[in-house]
Amino acid sequence: MKTFSTFAALAAATSVLAAPSPTGGLTPRASSSIVPITTKGNAFFQGDKRFYIRGVDYQPGGSSKLVDPIADAGTCARDIAEFKKLGINTVRVYTVDNTADHDACMSALADAGIYLVLDVNTPLYSLNRATPHNSYNEVYLQNIFATIDAFANYPNTLAFFSGNEVINDDKTTSAAPYVKAVTRDMRQYIGSRNYRKIPVGYSAADVNSNRLEMAEYMNCGPDDERSDFFAFNDYSWCDPSSFQISGWDQKVKNFTNYGIPLFLSEYGCNTNTRKFEEVAALYNTEMTSVYSGGLVYEYSEEGSKYGLVKIDSPTSVTELPDFLALKSALAAQADPAGTGGYNATGGASGCPAQSPNWDVSGDALPAIPAGAAKLMKSGAGKGAGLSGKGSQNAGGTSTGTASAGSGSVTAVATGSASSSTSTSSGSAKSAGTQLQPMDRAPLFLGLFVAGMSFVGATLL
Ligand SMILES: *[C@@H]1O[C@H](CO)[C@@H](O)[C@H](O)[C@H]1NC(C)=O
Ligand SMILES: *[C@@H]1O[C@H](CO)[C@@H](O)[C@H](O)[C@H]1NC(C)=O
Repeated sequence: MKTFSTFAALAAATSVLAAPSPTGGLTPRASSSIVPITTKGNAFFQGDKRFYIRGVDYQPGGSSKLVDPIADAGTCARDIAEFKKLGINTVRVYTVDNTADHDACMSALADAGIYLVLDVNTPLYSLNRATPHNSYNEVYLQNIFATIDAFANYPNTLAFFSGNEVINDDKTTSAAPYVKAVTRDMRQYIGSRNYRKIPVGYSAADVNSNRLEMAEYMNCGPDDERSDFFAFNDYSWCDPSSFQISGWDQKVKNFTNYGIPLFLSEYGCNTNTRKFEEVAALYNTEMTSVYSGGLVYEYSEEGSKYGLVKIDSPTSVTELPDFLALKSALAAQADPAGTGGYNATGGASGCPAQSPNWDVSGDALPAIPAGAAKLMKSGAGKGAGLSGKGSQNAGGTSTGTASAGSGSVTAVATGSASSSTSTSSGSAKSAGTQLQPMDRAPLFLGLFVAGMSFVGATLL
């Protein structure tokens, strides 16, 4: 629904410079004991406990008045008070200024038990669905890696979205290899920089004709190219409705064997009065074997009647009727007992066949641009923030097809990124300095290479 791919008038988003350390990025000011989220099979976990996203999409100002919502401690505090009333555990932010200081807001969110799902793209630094090859370049990747640096050390960074609605119809499916390459590169960067294994995945548009293909595609092929999760936007449940009438029963059926966590990155049809009746289905065992919750679109009213609150001033908001409706719906539906019937094994999907709805053949991906590959070792350095020249025609593009396993983590940064200057509890941080053997695995490349080399040529 909301896309940030068009150029938007940029707010005067000046920023505090936060200098990342050479090997590790920011040190969290972690006063909270919030437990980082992990994935297992097709589910998220908070320690041993299954974790369901109970969230809202959070970008006051929207794309037309772009402001980083988690760079201002005052407005964060105003909104976190509302998040607590709603009873949510996650917010999604579409765009941040990767040069700003997020310590105060991230820490306040953590104290409230709230995680962040973050889109790494900005209007100026993103893939262009019309020219995916040109826009997949080293200037772009440098900026999104800098965003990873800025957030990787916060324990409540739940996940990164590598892209949002890049593919929005059948014709644009040919951009999918680039979306998948960006996802691969982000995962490799996280591993190479020795960060916690923060899940990376894509947020797909509400398009029936290629949703399943997109999901399968992002989870097919060699392990280094598969996502950690998949999410899609869905506005098909319009109250009054039901599990069957909305077609959500089919969306469970279609994804029954999907082997990575799945959730709704936007939901909340507003055709009629919203009662959020879908909440009772989403956190119920009829869905939890396949889905891990979702994010309601959206926190603030931006002129299209999706808002839960109206923002009145930097210190006050008015709760709209939808606020109470969502609050009641969430409170009435607890998470299922136990682990909600999740699939503990999980695994890869098959790659979808080329068809009129799916204009991709095989699973060959563009190779990472050479200038971006170097950043795995050196680190990304300073980001461009919300200004900068933009990346879409910046040059430094991919020059070939990736070999299988090329996105696996081989160059792990040495030296501890974050052990010296923390202001509090040091114990949790050692996790970030351990190697992650699973990420380094695929040495048996021959198996894949044989299968891939002949499909690669047609792609680029
Ligand atoms: C389920 O998958 C089929 C086959 O890909 C597709 O035609 C159908 O639209 C999907 N249904 C839903 C509700 O996504
Ligand atoms: C779990 O997911 C895998 C991968 O998709 C699938 O092969 C397997 O059948 C699933 N297991 C169950 C019990 O659904």
